[in-house]
Amino acid sequence: MGEKLSYIHRFEKGAAADARPLLLLHGTGGDENDLVPLGHMVAPNAPLLSPRGKVLENGMPRFFRRLAEGVFDEDDVRRRADELADFIAEAHTRYGVSSPIALGYSNGANIAAAILLLRPEALAGAILLRVTAPLSLTPPVDLTGKPILIASGVSDPIIPPEGATRLASLLQRQGAIVEHRVLPTGHELSQADVTLARTWMQAHGHPAVP
Ligand code: MLT
Repeated sequence: MGEKLSYIHRFEKGAAADARPLLLLHGTGGDENDLVPLGHMVAPNAPLLSPRGKVLENGMPRFFRRLAEGVFDEDDVRRRADELADFIAEAHTRYGVSSPIALGYSNGANIAAAILLLRPEALAGAILLRVTAPLSLTPPVDLTGKPILIASGVSDPIIPPEGATRLASLLQRQGAIVEHRVLPTGHELSQADVTLARTWMQAHGHPAVP
């Protein structure tokens, strides 16, 4: 576990000082350890910053409250997106890492999308696995040149690809460079996600990205 910041988290320095850090954001019921192996596969030498969601749903950590499956408490989404963006700034001061690329799965991808829409300066880009549009209304933001990879599962019963399509066009309209892929899978992650994310990181994971 990392030093005391505003989120319980894990930090790994990584072997490559010039690699973009990854901000790992787990799904419902996960914790700060969950996505570390995925982080290593996607960006083998990058620093990894992995917080644990603070909201508990029947004991399962999440990054924001929901009222029912697929029905989000949008006030909480906003508050938690802000809180997590502040944590990224704290980690920058504590560990000296540059602004990260988020690698989020499901609930973690949804909070990453909210950060992009509300506090875009906190992230250099994002890999959003099984994501939807987390907010019904957001102010205009400048996402010019921010690289974003979205991977949906064609038969995902929890987060159908349509929500991701809506999010992708919203991000694109504000200047982000979005690649949206629909994989032959469900809500669970597959080898195709790993391969896709790794290839995408090889193109976008270095500081040349704004
Ligand atoms: C959410 O609540 O963010 C989504 O429904 C996905 C999840 O269950 O984590």
